[in-house]
Amino acid sequence: MSIFGKKTESLKGKKSLVIYFSHTGENYMADGIRNIDKGNTEIVAEIIKDITGADLFKVETIKEYPYNYKECCDVAKQELNSNARPELKQYLEDISQYEVIYLCSPIWWNYMPNAMLSQLEKLSFEGKIVKYVITHEGSGIGACNKNVEEFCKGADIREGLAIRGSSAKDSRNIIENWI
Ligand SMILES: Cc1cc2nc3c(=O)[nH]c(=O)nc-3n(C[C@H](O)[C@H](O)[C@H](O)COP(=O)(O)O)c2cc1C
Repeated sequence: MSIFGKKTESLKGKKSLVIYFSHTGENYMADGIRNIDKGNTEIVAEIIKDITGADLFKVETIKEYPYNYKECCDVAKQELNSNARPELKQYLEDISQYEVIYLCSPIWWNYMPNAMLSQLEKLSFEGKIVKYVITHEGSGIGACNKNVEEFCKGADIREGLAIRGSSAKDSRNIIENWI
């Protein structure tokens, strides 16, 4: 399909996988710090699954990130500064059956949380189409594109999408157009 001379391609029919990380507990939302029992990125991941029929893989650390917002920020900063690879409950090891990989992540201190990197570094993205969504509260994609470029070598990396976390549940149309 072509819109205004720009080539567009729907990825809906392709075998897809969503790899996502999402934190529940206290979070900084548009109206201040609030408790959320479903993470913003999880909402986005589930919308992608709903639209594309993709499989879902949730990145979960063995040692949970703190519930408290400030404490979680401190741990995240420490992990960023030490280039940590927190241990995961389960690692995905083979994505060869998928054509399209959606990476969904919050932005933490301008980058993807280190937990995402623990998973991404285990995988080969050679020949895959990679699309990524970052949920944020003001930074947009920030430097998360650098994480994607570093860890998805050999992939056809498409333009990333930034969604304000507090609007995640209203983002279905935006996501559908982006897909
Ligand atoms: C540790 C931490 C660091 C964050 N750093 C940023 C940031 O650098 N820029 C930004 O816009 N939002 C930042 N946020 C806000 C989150 O990216 C945003 O709320 C996101 O939607 C959370 O997704 P989740 O609920 O799926 O975990 C941060 C939140 C946390 C907990």
